[in-house]
This record gives sequence, C-alpha cells and structure tokens, in this order.
Amino acid sequence: MDLTEEEKAMLSGEMGPALQRAMEIIWALGKIYGASGTVLIKSAQISGISYKNIGEAGLDFLKKWALEGAKVQVPAMMNPAGMDLKRWKEMGIPEDFARKQLEVVEALESMGVKPTLTCAPYLTRNRPEFGEHLAWSESSAVIFANSVIGARTNREGGPSALAAAIVGRTACYGFHTEQGRKPACLVEVNCSLKDEADFGALGYLIGKKLGYKTPYIRFRAELPHFNKELLLRAMGAAMAASGSISMFHVEGLTPEAEIFPAEGEEQLTINSLDEAFLALGSPINEVDLIWIGCPHASLEELELIASLVNGRKLSTKLWVTTSREIVAKAGKAVETIEEAGGLVLSDTCLVVAPVEALGIRKVATNSAKAAFYLPSWAKVQVAFASLEECITRYGGLR
Ligand code: F3S
Repeated sequence: MDLTEEEKAMLSGEMGPALQRAMEIIWALGKIYGASGTVLIKSAQISGISYKNIGEAGLDFLKKWALEGAKVQVPAMMNPAGMDLKRWKEMGIPEDFARKQLEVVEALESMGVKPTLTCAPYLTRNRPEFGEHLAWSESSAVIFANSVIGARTNREGGPSALAAAIVGRTACYGFHTEQGRKPACLVEVNCSLKDEADFGALGYLIGKKLGYKTPYIRFRAELPHFNKELLLRAMGAAMAASGSISMFHVEGLTPEAEIFPAEGEEQLTINSLDEAFLALGSPINEVDLIWIGCPHASLEELELIASLVNGRKLSTKLWVTTSREIVAKAGKAVETIEEAGGLVLSDTCLVVAPVEALGIRKVATNSAKAAFYLPSWAKVQVAFASLEECITRYGGLR
C-alpha cells in the first residue's frame, strides 16, 4: 500500500499518538484488503455510539483517544445513541445508562464529531454528492449512499470510520474503486410491490440469498407511486441486515445502473415475498409499542403518520424515531402525532436502546431491518407490516 510522506509521518508517530493510532487502523485495513493507497474523504459517519453496544471498554477507548488529542479533519457525524439525549426520561431509560451514554457522546464531541445522532444523514443537509468518497459505517446509510446517491464508501466499523475522520482519508479498496462497484448477480423481480414493507421484505430475501454480492435488480412490474428513494432505502436497509450487501443497482432508477450493467452468469428470480413475511413476523393480537423510523423517519413519513392519527387518540404506545433536523422541520406533524399520544424521538432507535430495561416485549414495525434484528438482539416479538397497517391495525385509534 503506497503512503504519502505525510501518511508515513502519521504512521511512525512523528505527528503524535492520536494520528498514529488512526493511521495504524487505516493502514492495517488497507493491507488486509489489498488497497493501492488512500483516498481523501468528504465526511465520516460513525456507528457504535450506543453505550448498550460499546459498553465500558468502548467508552474507555474513546476517552483515551480524546485524551491523546484526537481531532477530526473532515465533517464527522454520529449514528443513533441508546436514548434521546433530551427526552430519555420519557423513554424510561435508567439513570445509570443515561449517564454513561452522555459520556460517550461527550468524548466524541471533544474530538469534533457532531452529535447528529442519526442513521439517515442523507435526509438532512449532510447529503453527499455523486462520486464523493466517504467513510460511513451505518449499514443502511452505506448502502443508500453507494446505491441511490452514487457516493463511494465501504461499510466501515465504528473505530475505522473515526480513524478515517481523524486522518481525513481512508484506504482505497472495495466500493471506492470501479471494480468494486460492479454487480455480481442479476435479480429479476416478477411480483408487484405496493409499499415500503414489501420493499423491505424484498431486501430481506435478496440479502439472505446473495450474502455480500452486489445485485443488479430488474423490476418487471410497475412500481408504486410513492417516493422511490424511500422505497429503495427500506429495501437497502433490509438487504444490508440479512446479508452484508453494501450496494445495489436498479435498472432505470439508480445512478450507476447504466455505468455498470448486469453481466455474468448468476441470476436470481423472485416471484413471491411470502417467505420473507413469514420470517419477519406474522400479525399478533396486540403489541406494547408501534415503532416507525428504522432507518430514521423522513419528513414525508412523519406527515403520513400525522395524517393517519390526526384528531384521534392512540391506545397503543407509538414511537417515531428520526433526526433532530427532521424534528425541527416537521413542527406541525410532530405536534399532531404527540397530541394523539405518540412520541417523536430524536438521537436514538429501538435496536440500539436498552430495550430489555424498558419492558417492551411485542413491537409492530414497518421496518424489515428492525424485524430482522429485534427478536435476536432484544428478545422482542415482532409484527411486521406497512406503516399504515401498523398505525391502523395496532394503534387502537379512537
Ligand atoms: Fe437506524 Fe437503528 Fe434502524 S440505526 S437503520 S433506526 S436499527
């Protein structure tokens, strides 16, 4: 792996221990994956923010790096934490967890990482541009950035994304290269899809069947008249969860589908989504919580929820998770949802929150990614359905 003089100085420790530690991580990854050199990045998005996931060892690691004087050189953002930093008491988060969670965020802030605390930074002013190199680590954001925007990022781990932010570059391999962006399998989808739950179910199936391979997807039926980006992100988030896919192409829709057309022998045909719905969670009688916002809800989704609950009261707890920026933009919709008894939370998500401590056992969600993770990660029973069905079927609206 070729390094510049500056990179060699970082690696040798000449520029201090914080840069040395960061460059060591980039260099080690580059060696493992056969990188030719490094590439400058425009932004970093860092996962591993929840104290539930990183624990005391992760917190100590961050504090140590901060004490060594680590500072990010490019805009760097945080993935969701284990709680809404302001409304954690309303969530029922235990005080000792909250204290530790705030310490994690403070350690990162002291290095210059912005407390965006969202897995959907592309819905805010942090949307990257086509062709930009990034070091992002949240899997749903990585697949969205690569596939829908045409930016370039590997699926970084939390420490490697932070290391990349500190040195302003990452190792050039995988999705940073032309070769790494080519599809490996043509997927023909013959069934029709009506909403985001169907797209999530499709993503789940593709991830299960292809593992890590990049699909080139051809839809045979007409797509629903809904924001296509949101449908593709539901599909991508699920694909990245059930498999470890970091990019997809969709004929006629994604920006690089024409640059990298389908080629090769491998082909997958999908005629039905039944297998996915069966695996992701059948209807249940009643739930403790309806959760919308995995990935973090868009303005459009908040407005749709508001239109469903407008002027009525929910009998079931509803949490909508999104970013602070979307909450600020969606004033009227947030008000309507909360008047109905829902809670619009920012900074967090149920998968990374200490669910066990919150007494939540049964959840309805429109997210295939959440439906995939919650049973194993949090021992939660899931009913998987569209946003509209989650609210109307499980909300007990009066
Ligand atoms: Fe985001 Fe949490 Fe889902 S980080 S993609 S809301 S699991």
